[in-house]
Amino acid sequence: MNNVTLNNGVQMPILGFGVFQIPDDETQAAVEAALAAGYRHLDTAASYGNEAAVGAAIKASGIAREDLFVTTKLWIQHAPAGSVQDDTRRAFENSLRRLGLDYLDLYLIHQPLGDYYSQWRAMQDLNKEGLARAIGVSNFHPDRLVDLIDHNEIVPAVNQIETHPFHQRGADQALMRERGVQIESWGPFAEGRNNLFTDPVLSAIAEAHGKSVAQVVLRWLIQREVVVIPKSVRPERMAQNLDVFDFALTDEQMGRIAALDTGASLFFDHRDPAMVSWLGGRRIN
Ligand SMILES: NC(=O)c1ccc[n+]([C@@H]2O[C@H](COP(=O)([O-])OP(=O)(O)OC[C@H]3O[C@@H](n4cnc5c(N)ncnc54)[C@H](OP(=O)(O)O)[C@@H]3O)[C@@H](O)[C@H]2O)c1
Repeated sequence: MNNVTLNNGVQMPILGFGVFQIPDDETQAAVEAALAAGYRHLDTAASYGNEAAVGAAIKASGIAREDLFVTTKLWIQHAPAGSVQDDTRRAFENSLRRLGLDYLDLYLIHQPLGDYYSQWRAMQDLNKEGLARAIGVSNFHPDRLVDLIDHNEIVPAVNQIETHPFHQRGADQALMRERGVQIESWGPFAEGRNNLFTDPVLSAIAEAHGKSVAQVVLRWLIQREVVVIPKSVRPERMAQNLDVFDFALTDEQMGRIAALDTGASLFFDHRDPAMVSWLGGRRIN
């Protein structure tokens, strides 16, 4: 597996397995199948409600802890009268306990909402204590990312953002590179939206390589040095999504895919006040 080197020297596999929207009672089997297929990088979140099932699969696999790269995410913490920093540590400990681990490879702020500066300060401590080998953020637009960097000690190692052929984030990636932040894609297939799997441009490129559209999309992201964490509950797709290191897209093919960019989210806008309020109202730790 190819790795990227994060800004603190930690090695992160460029391809991993995401578990968003896998029901809790199916997650253990899916993660066991993913580990058996060869995935060693797992991406979950407190808000997915399936950390314990991910932990059970890790335990059942018998794979050595140091051979795995495990990410989870901190939900927006609410402590109107208390300390968001204390709550962040508690939320971290809860995630660790559910996962059955004694440290994380990567801990991310899930949303740029609420008092995420206090959350970040608690995460800096967790990082210094060795409890989270790397810390980062998710869904941060460039302005919020730069502000967080400029007013804190540790630069986020990663920003996990929606990135796929219809929302490519080229300018965001350039800024992150300048600031030493690794881009990680969520929704590499846009969850199939916009008919991604039958898109004519992607299909023609896939046919030219004897590969699937999913493999072309993952290859395109990896060639752009974007970390990917595709999700599937089907073992044959898990294997297919891992099998992307034996071919390369030409510059001309990369250019044809670049032309598919719409520059907009296919999901929702993190700057929409109704969405900010809805996300902020969810209570998870
Ligand atoms: N930070 C955030 O806010 C955030 C938001 C969303 C996602 N994420 C992370 O990113 C991961 C990936 O994103 P995602 O799960 O939203 O969507 P995704 O990976 O873009 O798409 C998953 C969908 O593609 C299908 N699929 C997978 N492989 C396929 C293949 N080879 N051929 C055809 N269809 C295929 C899956 O169906 P089957 O399962 O039926 O195969 C599923 O419907 C998540 O699991 C999560 O870890 C993070």
